[in-house]
Amino acid sequence: MHIPANKSLVNKHILLGVTGSIAAYKAAELVRRLRESGAEVRVVLSAGGAEFVTPLTFQALSGNPVHSELLDTEAEAAMGHIELARWADAVVIAPASANVIARLTQGRADDLLAAVCLATEAPVAVAPAMNQQMWANAATQDNLQQLRARGVHPFGPTEGGQACGETGPGRMLEAADIVRRTAELFDTGALAGLRVLITAGPTQEAIDPVRYLSNRSSGRMGYAVAQAAAEAGAHVTLVSGPTALATPPRVERIDVRSAEEMHAAVLGRATDADIFIASAAVADYRPAAPSEQKIKKTTDTLSLELVRNPDILAEVAALPGGPFTVGFAAETANLLEYARDKLARKDLDMIAANRVGGGLGFEAEENALSVIDANGVTELTQAPKAQLARRLTALIAEHFRRRSECFL
Ligand SMILES: Cc1cc2nc3c(=O)[nH]c(=O)nc-3n(C[C@H](O)[C@H](O)[C@H](O)COP(=O)(O)O)c2cc1C
Repeated sequence: MHIPANKSLVNKHILLGVTGSIAAYKAAELVRRLRESGAEVRVVLSAGGAEFVTPLTFQALSGNPVHSELLDTEAEAAMGHIELARWADAVVIAPASANVIARLTQGRADDLLAAVCLATEAPVAVAPAMNQQMWANAATQDNLQQLRARGVHPFGPTEGGQACGETGPGRMLEAADIVRRTAELFDTGALAGLRVLITAGPTQEAIDPVRYLSNRSSGRMGYAVAQAAAEAGAHVTLVSGPTALATPPRVERIDVRSAEEMHAAVLGRATDADIFIASAAVADYRPAAPSEQKIKKTTDTLSLELVRNPDILAEVAALPGGPFTVGFAAETANLLEYARDKLARKDLDMIAANRVGGGLGFEAEENALSVIDANGVTELTQAPKAQLARRLTALIAEHFRRRSECFL
C-alpha cells in the first residue's frame, strides 16, 4: 500500500544530530521536511555544528529546545543524554562530519551527540558531508566500514559540486532523500505478507441512550502495535473501540462501540488472520437491559444488573486452525501469576502483561511489558509505547515464524 510521502514518519521521534560541516545549513530544511512527514524532531547540535548554524534556527524550526551540552546541570535536569537516547525512535546525523564519524567509530562519549549515540537502542544513521578527499581518505572509509558492521546506516553521500569548489563524492543527500531513508529504517519486513488483526481501546456498554460503562484504556498501545505491524509489512486490520487517536498509516480501521460489536467484528475476520493481537480493554460485563429512555433521577439508589460479555480472546484462541493469538493482561498486582493463568486458561500463544499504575499502563505515555509464552518470560523494559510496540512486534514475528516452522 502506498503511504503519502508527507506522512511517512507520523508518530516518530527523530533526534537529528547536526555537526560541523558547511552543509549544516541544509539541516534547517531537513527539520522542516521531517516535521512535514509527521515526525517530532529534537536537534542535538555539536560544537562544530553551532559554528555554522545557530541553535535559534533549529529551535524555531523544530519547535523544541536545542540540545548541545553534556556536562551541564541545567541541560541534564531538563532532558539529559539518557532521556534523549530513550526518547529517540531514530538518530539521524545530517550532516555527519568526518570528525563525528571518527568519534562514533571510537565509541567516544565526550560530547552530547556521541554519548546519545552510545546510549540509544534506536537505529543510528549518518549522512556524511565533506570534501571529496576527506571522504576518500582511508581513515574515513575504514571508520564507515566499522560503523556499518555495527549496524549504523550510512545515508549517502552523493557526488556533485562541493562548497570548496571541487567535484566528487562527499555531498550530503538532499533532505527529501534523507526523509525517505529515515522512514525506511522502520520498515523491517518482519511480518511481510501476513494478515494481522488487532483490537484496541476501551468498549462502551450502554446503560441508557446517554450513559455507558467503560474504562480508562486510551488505545495507545494497540494503535502503536498496529502501526509497528504495518511497518513490519503486515496487512493490518484494527478493530477499535472509541478513542481520540488517528488511524496509523496503512492500517484498515473498523470502529465499534460495545463488546458485542467488537466480538462480531473480530469473529467475522479471525479465520482469515495469521496473527490476532487482543489489546482492547473489553468490558467483562454489560448492563442486562439498557434503558430505551434516559434514566431519571427519581430514586435514592439505583441498581444495574450486569451480564457477562463474550470472551473474544478465548473464542479466537479456540478456533480450529485459528490465528497465532496474543493477549494482553493489565493488572495492578500479581502480574506474572495472573498473566500465566490467563495464558493457560485461554490457550493463548503469547501474553503481554503490563502493570497498571505508578505512571505506567492506561493513559500513560510509557509502558513496560513482561511477554510470556510456553518457553518463558521476556522482559521489555520501560519505554515510550511506540518503541515498546516495535519490540513486541519483533518478538511476535519471531515466535510466529518459529511456531510455523514447527508445523512444517
Ligand atoms: C569552513 C569550514 C567548512 C567545513 N566543512 C566541513 C565539512 O563539510 N565536512 C567535514 O567533515 N568537516 C568540515 N569542516 C571541519 C569540521 O568543522 C571540524 O572537523 C569540526 O571539528 C567538526 O566538529 P563536529 O564534528 O564536532 O561538529 C569544515 C571546517 C570549516 C572551517
